[in-house]
Amino acid sequence: MVNKLLKFITCGSVDDGKSTLIGHMLYDAKLIFADQEKALILDSKVGSRGGEIDYSLLLDGLIAEREQGITIDVAYRYFTTEKRSFIVADTPGHEQYTRNMAVGASFADLAVILVDASKGIRIQTKRHAGICSLMGIRYFVFAINKMDIVNYELDIFKKIEKELSALADELKLENVKIIPVSATAGDNVNKKSDNMSWYDGEALLPYLEDVDVTDIDTKEGFVMPIQRVCRPDSGYRGFQGQIESGEISVGDRVSILPGGEEAIVSSIYVMDEDKKTAYEGEPVSIALDRETDVSRGCVLVKGTMPEVSRLFRAILLWMDDEPLIQGKSYIAMIGTKEIPATVQQIKYRIDVNSGEHLSATMLEKNELAECEISLSEKIVLDAFANHRALGELILIDRVTNMTSACGTILHSMRRSENLTWQSTDITRQIRAGQMNQTPYTLWFTGLSGSGKSTLANAVEKALHMEGRHTMLLDGDNIRMGLNNNLGFEEADRIENIRRIAEVSKLMNDAGLIVLTSFISPFAKDRQRARQIIGEDSFIEIYVSTPIDECEKRDVKGLYKKAREGDIPNFTGVSSPYEEPENPDIIIDTANLSVDESVSIILDQLKRLLLN
Ligand code: ADX
Repeated sequence: MVNKLLKFITCGSVDDGKSTLIGHMLYDAKLIFADQEKALILDSKVGSRGGEIDYSLLLDGLIAEREQGITIDVAYRYFTTEKRSFIVADTPGHEQYTRNMAVGASFADLAVILVDASKGIRIQTKRHAGICSLMGIRYFVFAINKMDIVNYELDIFKKIEKELSALADELKLENVKIIPVSATAGDNVNKKSDNMSWYDGEALLPYLEDVDVTDIDTKEGFVMPIQRVCRPDSGYRGFQGQIESGEISVGDRVSILPGGEEAIVSSIYVMDEDKKTAYEGEPVSIALDRETDVSRGCVLVKGTMPEVSRLFRAILLWMDDEPLIQGKSYIAMIGTKEIPATVQQIKYRIDVNSGEHLSATMLEKNELAECEISLSEKIVLDAFANHRALGELILIDRVTNMTSACGTILHSMRRSENLTWQSTDITRQIRAGQMNQTPYTLWFTGLSGSGKSTLANAVEKALHMEGRHTMLLDGDNIRMGLNNNLGFEEADRIENIRRIAEVSKLMNDAGLIVLTSFISPFAKDRQRARQIIGEDSFIEIYVSTPIDECEKRDVKGLYKKAREGDIPNFTGVSSPYEEPENPDIIIDTANLSVDESVSIILDQLKRLLLN
């Protein structure tokens, strides 16, 4: 029987002999074309192996090609033996290439990690094994290479074997196979070597041909994320996608998630062929016996029930030059769904060398962390360990469109799902009605010293005189109480504004007119505040006083301190202020008195509230 396609990754430092090892396997698997083979022999004549074929030239050639500006991160090689087809992801071993390795690992079922017999286990070995395991690989082969250099000594092998078993314990690796090889001499690569008669296991390639990587833990059942709804004519509506697990037959009852509707499969096409049954890995078009509400990102299932959730924990590998900041919004791709996502919290960062969990509020490139992520709505997802296709994700930067992170879902969180909104008999309208007013929030934004607090204070006084019930939330005051655990780093400012927006909404619900005075320097946070408070209740007032004027006033003496370097992240000096693009009201206090400003705001307010 031909085994299922094996997707594997090779990891090792450059001098561990990784290229030579893969080169050797590919060579024997007759992947190389005739002229390439000749070139290899010729090259080797002048190369380092004194006339013998230097297999590493084959792979190094590919690497050189890649480094000449070809954009793929990982080189995928396809090869076939009589027993099995393989895809191998080859990734460079240096630390700065962690990202490539993780991308390769996220695709693979098995990792072949090279260890130099003459050097033993190194930090790199731990890093590579750690990342592969975090990216969801469950099958590991450690190839103890360069056995020829250590005279094929059993003792050396045994010593490394012992170290590896400690590492496997530490990283909780299951399914570990250790094979002594020599990539250059070919010992135990494609066939068993006489030089190590003490080794009674298989050679590497035969092992890879036979290893069964079907996870016993993986949930059974049929899963197909829908990529496309196809309607060639009015009579046919097919749901296209790839079967990620299980099989499906005409007549089967399927559920359509996230909605949960049920329907019977009426026809199946694999490519263009009409079939009764389709199997895992096949691209199919499935028609159902009734009209259903199905679109891209929905998932057809049978005999299994993935989660439907909007909150989950995941291991993320950060790949962006810009660090990850808690609270920032990205686009997540999970299964075939693309959806706005926010990294709510970095639970801890993982030191890939020691495995230690470290506290962190941000993540730099190549760092790994467990994070809590929320989505803008519930979608079908699952733990990576249950359903691979529904448990892998990438995060895309909304501005640059770059892939910022890849990761695997650990589990969904039911915190928000277990909560039910409780309606109260006394509503916002009733409360506000008793005060005889319509609640709203006046959101003052602008630089420190721009006059926000002065204006908010004066406007509140004017409203109060008119008999309105009001509340003023002011930056410095709130930061001395409710938000006294927050500083001025980006993540803290995001949280500062989120809390103020939530409090403003509560106060509006209580019937009050709220005035807030916070720098709120980031456009996205103000946008989020608008969403929380509600489009109709949010009035943005941009106090646009230019920085020169603010600095000249320097009421609190903070600009001076900031310029002297005594206050880090000071808005306008060492931290940005993003001007509102479309504020409801703009006031430049440089040319207006307080009274003039207040009367402009009140006039504008009347106009806005009438609309
Ligand atoms: S915000 O950026 O998170 O909206 P907020 O309005 O709450 O800021 O607080 C700003 C006030 O904190 C300023 O008026 C100033 O008095 C004080 N402050 C202290 N450090 C900083 C800083 N690094 N940047 C800006 N304001 C600061």
